Amino acid sequence: TPRVFSGIQPSGGLTLGNYLGALKRFADSQDQGVQSVFCMVDMHAITVWQDPEALRRQTRELTAGFIASGVDPEKSILFNQSQVAEHAQLAWIFNCVARMGWMQRMTQWKDKAGKNTQNASLGLLAYPALMAADILVYHATHVPVGEDQKQHLELTRDIAIKFNNDYGVDFFPVTEPVIEGAATRVMSLRDGSKKMSKSDPSDMSRINLTDDADTIAQKIRKARTDPEPLPDNAEGLAERPEARNLVNIYAALADLTVDQVIAEHAGQQFGTFKPALADLAVAKLEPISTEMKRLTADPAEIDAILRRGSERAREIASPILAKTYEIVGMVR
Ligand code: TYM
Repeated sequence: TPRVFSGIQPSGGLTLGNYLGALKRFADSQDQGVQSVFCMVDMHAITVWQDPEALRRQTRELTAGFIASGVDPEKSILFNQSQVAEHAQLAWIFNCVARMGWMQRMTQWKDKAGKNTQNASLGLLAYPALMAADILVYHATHVPVGEDQKQHLELTRDIAIKFNNDYGVDFFPVTEPVIEGAATRVMSLRDGSKKMSKSDPSDMSRINLTDDADTIAQKIRKARTDPEPLPDNAEGLAERPEARNLVNIYAALADLTVDQVIAEHAGQQFGTFKPALADLAVAKLEPISTEMKRLTADPAEIDAILRRGSERAREIASPILAKTYEIVGMVR
């Protein structure tokens, strides 16, 4: 039976990239009747230093972001990683299955560890094994993510295959990454060659889910573009990363295809298209930020949701971990 799993790090604010690449698609997939499990990956977050009070606040804010984006904590399972110990327990086993070389090849490791890898945390290197455990401890079959997580999901498949081979079993499923839609890689508003990221030093490069209407409109007005009008077909965007990014964002927000957006706006100058995009973005995002504010005002309610979600998650994860221990030869 199909089961969806995905996770987001509570390591800072949510961006439009997180919304279009992940949250909005989670809400859409949940309504297709598949069981969905969504996780605030607080143990991944601490692979780089997090202030404890900030981590608590960001975990609650992220939970509010899921709910405000349309993920229903009754239909889906919504919880934080550290409350289901089975993730860490399976991750240890995967640490012993995965090879050092696999980890050192990951582009996220190379980016985040920087030049002085000797000073990076051991957890940062092992990050993808914990991610594989997140997914496989539920025998999840489908993992909706943005483009930047593709390499990690390939490693998850490699870990599942090697475990099955090493132990001569057909136990862990080989997971399908689901990277679909117009906005699987939302780019910086200042530089069409960089992805939109919460860690970019320029706040003008991104739209935060907590931005107010004026800020959203201003950031879109000031977004970098070229001087040409919009083309009359999608191929006309191939060499125009900034223009393509704005069209992709429009398409994803409006639930249209890129071709439909082009058909509607062909020949328009950015002086016309940007205000239309700003209106659309404000209309879609403002209700989310309002709802996030409302929800975070009651942290006890959010904590209760995460606790209930964790109990439901453990009901699935616990027998899968027990079976794994048996396969590996741990005496119970
Ligand atoms: P994270 O927290 O960096 O991002 C969460 C999700 O948002 C997507 N995303 C984007 N999509 C489109 N355009 C962008 N600019 C953009 N920026 C971020 C990411 O692709 C992701 O889907 N390692 C993961 C968290 C994780 C996970 C997992 C995901 C841990 N365990 C198991 C799936 C399954 C991460 O750091 O995502």
